[in-house]
Amino acid sequence: MSVSQSAVHLVSHLEHDYLRQALEHDVRTGLTSKPKWLPPKWFYDAAGSDLFSQITRLPEYYPTRRELTILRREALDIAARSGADTLVELGSGTSEKTVLLLDALSVTGTLRTYTPVDVDAVTLGDAARRLAGRYPGLAVRAVCADFERHLALLPRRGRRMVAFLGGTIGNLDPEAREVFLKELRNTLRPGDTFLLGADLVKDTGRLIAAYDDAAGVTAAFNRNVLHVINRELEADFEPDAFEHVALYDERNDWIEMRLRATRAMRVRIGGLDLAVSFTSGEEMRTEISAKFHPEGLRRELTAAGFTVISLSTDPTGDFSLVLAGV
Ligand code: AVJ
Repeated sequence: MSVSQSAVHLVSHLEHDYLRQALEHDVRTGLTSKPKWLPPKWFYDAAGSDLFSQITRLPEYYPTRRELTILRREALDIAARSGADTLVELGSGTSEKTVLLLDALSVTGTLRTYTPVDVDAVTLGDAARRLAGRYPGLAVRAVCADFERHLALLPRRGRRMVAFLGGTIGNLDPEAREVFLKELRNTLRPGDTFLLGADLVKDTGRLIAAYDDAAGVTAAFNRNVLHVINRELEADFEPDAFEHVALYDERNDWIEMRLRATRAMRVRIGGLDLAVSFTSGEEMRTEISAKFHPEGLRRELTAAGFTVISLSTDPTGDFSLVLAGV
């Protein structure tokens, strides 16, 4: 693939160090809490990102297809309203849906820079090179970072649209969401926009099926966080000794994924000089994926200082896409 006409700028060591510290802090905090938990961002090494791509194609996992339906219909409109020259994408992954936005911004004629932000350096680099090849003249500045902590690393110049797609906002609990939305709001200036994809509350059976697929891909994705910790922090988790659990918490309107220890065990995390014990049947939370009501989304965005420009749902009412200004 020719990338001669485009600039790709990648991952600095500084960013790598920040990320490493975030991983160490999160794993230590989560594994020494009661009950134990791990933040979902650490699912995504190269293998985890690949498993997630497989999830997006599963018959049970509707969000990606629904969001694409909305984007296909609205991308040109969104691009025109945003007038952005810089697209920043938080949790960009493989950037599969991003081409719709980049195409639309190219048509509008304003596009200059794309800044994908992701915790997985491998997937980030692949996506950056692929998109630089597809859009000659586009400056691609990939940032390997934890968007919850490293909003300060985002570009400050240009008229920006920050896209946060796929429903990843649902990984944050309400308090974390409030903090994140306010901090993001404060990095934006008049003229900048925020494009948010959020999954909506629906039939519980369909929600659970989406997180507990028949082929077991989500189970493998869930266990992958243990492989990541083994490799990055010299731990000795036995991923196969943990069972995948997916449940819907009706009170909080969120899906919860857990890993359940099938027997008592002791795990050493060499890189943290830490040992943790699991009792047989003990469950560790690995992800929440919150589901929203459109009015709730509006309320949270408004409370954080955003102005909702448009809120669209797909024809089935499964998923929503919100464009907001500041
Ligand atoms: C990438 C966070 C949007 O919450 O639906 C998919 C991750 N977890 N299956 C989601 C996920 C289990 C996904 N997000």
